[in-house]
Amino acid sequence: MTDLKFIAQQLRKPSGEFASTIAEKMAEANHPLYDLVNHSMTFRDHDSILEIGFGSGSHFSALLAKANGLNITGIDYSSEMTELAKSINKNNVEAGRLKLHTGNSSQLPFDDSSFHTVFCNMVIYFWDDPADHLKEIQRVLKPGGIFYTGMRTLDSMLQFPFTKFGFNLYSIDEWKSVLQSHGFMIVGELRQRDPVFDDDGDQIQLESVCLAALCR
Ligand SMILES: C[S@@+](CC[C@H](N)C(=O)[O-])C[C@H]1O[C@@H](n2cnc3c(N)ncnc32)[C@H](O)[C@@H]1O
Repeated sequence: MTDLKFIAQQLRKPSGEFASTIAEKMAEANHPLYDLVNHSMTFRDHDSILEIGFGSGSHFSALLAKANGLNITGIDYSSEMTELAKSINKNNVEAGRLKLHTGNSSQLPFDDSSFHTVFCNMVIYFWDDPADHLKEIQRVLKPGGIFYTGMRTLDSMLQFPFTKFGFNLYSIDEWKSVLQSHGFMIVGELRQRDPVFDDDGDQIQLESVCLAALCR
């Protein structure tokens, strides 16, 4: 029981000695979701993009390759993740293409209308009051900007016993309703069945979803 609680706490905010192990596991399990979200997002050259809760940040070079001159910013409230992502992405950070911050999405340290796109993968489950985060996302998005949520179906999430501990779980329709009731309009949805993976001896298959929501 303690182990499940510990895993849930680490997924919420990787910290201490276990942080790099959990980061590696998240990167492996969520690679197909990142592929789906990358495929969903359309960028123009020189767009500004914000990712909330980037974890290890091992996906940033694929994102930077989607258009010319992209400016990518990330924020994660685990300082361990910020340091890990900075070391994995040393060249892009030094070249100024990628800026990584430690901080909470309930208080984004960015000016109003800073980003064309904001996205987060597997992060909404840790927002105890989504309104605090969604109003900040609206504030930093430019008019007409899009917020992409990368998430898993409820059935997928329920395969993991640790989600009983402190996760705010949603069906896809429930999360769409949350977005709509906070002033977003759903403008796109992509789904995929991820490849089966081995989770410590259990064969797991997840269904990934990417929702695109227009900030009104
Ligand atoms: C389950 S991990 C997902 C990491 C990565 N996005 C992925 O899909 O593999 C959740 C990440 O979001 C970060 N996080 C959770 N709540 C946050 C918040 N309110 N503000 C910033 N980062 C947050 C955690 O520190 C952690 O790195």
